[in-house]
Amino acid sequence: MAEKSFKYVIVGGGVAAGYAAREFAKQGVKPGELAIISKEAVAPYERPALSKAYLFPESPARLPGFHVCVGSGGERLLTEWYKENGIELILSTEIVKADLAGKTLISAAGESFKYQILIIATGSTVIRLADFGVQGADAKNIFYLREIDDADKLVEAIRAKKNGKAVIVGGGYIGLELGAALRINNLEVSMVYPEPWCMPRLFTSGIAAFYESYYANKGIKIIKGTVAVGFSANEKGEVTEVKLKDGTVLEADIVVVGVGGRPLTTLFKGQVEEEKGGIKTDAFFKTSVPNVYAVGDVATFPLKLYNELRRVEHVDHSRKSAEQAVKAIKASEGVGPVEEYDYLPYFYSRAFDLSWQFYGDNVGEPVLFGDNNPASAKPKFGSYWIKDGKVVGAFLEGDNNPASAKPKFGSYWIKDGKVVGAFLEGGNPDENKAIAKVARIQPPVESLDQVKNEGLAFASKI
Ligand code: FDA
Ligand code: NAD
Repeated sequence: MAEKSFKYVIVGGGVAAGYAAREFAKQGVKPGELAIISKEAVAPYERPALSKAYLFPESPARLPGFHVCVGSGGERLLTEWYKENGIELILSTEIVKADLAGKTLISAAGESFKYQILIIATGSTVIRLADFGVQGADAKNIFYLREIDDADKLVEAIRAKKNGKAVIVGGGYIGLELGAALRINNLEVSMVYPEPWCMPRLFTSGIAAFYESYYANKGIKIIKGTVAVGFSANEKGEVTEVKLKDGTVLEADIVVVGVGGRPLTTLFKGQVEEEKGGIKTDAFFKTSVPNVYAVGDVATFPLKLYNELRRVEHVDHSRKSAEQAVKAIKASEGVGPVEEYDYLPYFYSRAFDLSWQFYGDNVGEPVLFGDNNPASAKPKFGSYWIKDGKVVGAFLEGDNNPASAKPKFGSYWIKDGKVVGAFLEGGNPDENKAIAKVARIQPPVESLDQVKNEGLAFASKI
């Protein structure tokens, strides 16, 4: 059995691996010291492109255009870059066994890789409808999107099913970005999700109402409060219908499913401490096992700002956690300083002509501000989340339908508190910087009305 040995091994060849490699090169790594082992066939790339420009009908993004680290304004690391820097890229190689005590990884082909220091960067995988026993979920043309191979299969189907019907199952990130991408490709799109509004993990009903109306204006049909319970297929095994729990049947040539992700920690189960579904780390991304680090989607790390352990499934954190782990490794070897990770959560999305950014924590009382009319030429609106406010007044009357037999509705007046989260649709770079600053500084507010009335000006003056 072939055996290779490295000082540092990164298992997983996604976003975090790419940014870690760049940091290693920056800090100094000798030829042959570092290897990246990836199940994918290509060098690390900016995964967010797969649900956006990769699916454009015209001038779509293609590799090598979006290899890391272009996503954060850095230089592209092409396959040759790894060679030039003496970093071994071991592609199309899935690790199927990890022995942390023996410091050994074994691939599906039986190769064995020894390391002194390991960085776990296996990211997430998709949750499949078959996992919930949904009948017919293995039909052809039902797609999930995680890796470039998945995106290629979807692109092929979009070509084959020109002007056909697409059903999107899920109302989260994948659902909203893919709903838009398929509509732009001129498919007739329906979206189905169980919650009362889209992206409930982050959006308030007020934020979601804007996107739902915008999508409806683009001709996308949204079906809420129900789930897909089965699929029909034709004689070729291709999906033809999606059956919903509420009895509706939707015709479909293509189905895209985005019902959540799951961090890929199985290889390490029982060998390393876990927390909140991820591998538990300290502020330097060290796990409970000496010389083993975990970064990106798989890491559950101390979020200093909120004094709690969190796992974050977004690209900004995958880049920064990877750089932090490499700095910590190098600092432990006496090269360069490293400070505690002090992360400000940052998520974003783009679809159609829309683009939003969110910073901080979406807890407390949300306050919507700005122009959230989906028919506006350039809608610009946002939300702040205010925490620790004091209720100083309360009002209650029946309901606010004057025609109700027994109206009941009410209001609270909240005073003080601080801004802990900020969301902005349609912001320019300065405005996005301003909301990031607000979420970091957590300025006090006098009342919810104050931030509502001031809107973006509240952030801009901080
Ligand atoms: P990532 O998933 O990037 O990489 C993991 C790598 O490990 C993969 O190459 C995988 O093949 C490999 N691997 C796993 N198990 C292995 C094994 N056993 N052996 C060998 N290799 C193995 N975020 C955001 O903030 N804004 C956005 O717009 C988007 N958009 C977006 C679109 C799409 C389609 C997806 C799927 C995700 C996003 N994200 C995002 C999320 C973001 O991409 C994600 O958080 C990062 O890619 C996480 O980086 P990691 O390196 O942790 O995992
Ligand atoms: P998600 O958690 O954002 O959304 C999952 C959605 O699935 C839920 O909101 C719900 O509407 C829906 N759902 C759950 N069970 C369902 C069911 N049985 N039937 C129908 N709908 C159901 O997950 P995702 O959209 O699948 O994204 C996967 C991963 O990719 C996540 O880690 C996400 O962070 C990442 N991603 C991020 C971005 C971004 O940051 N812009 C873009 C794409 C993907």
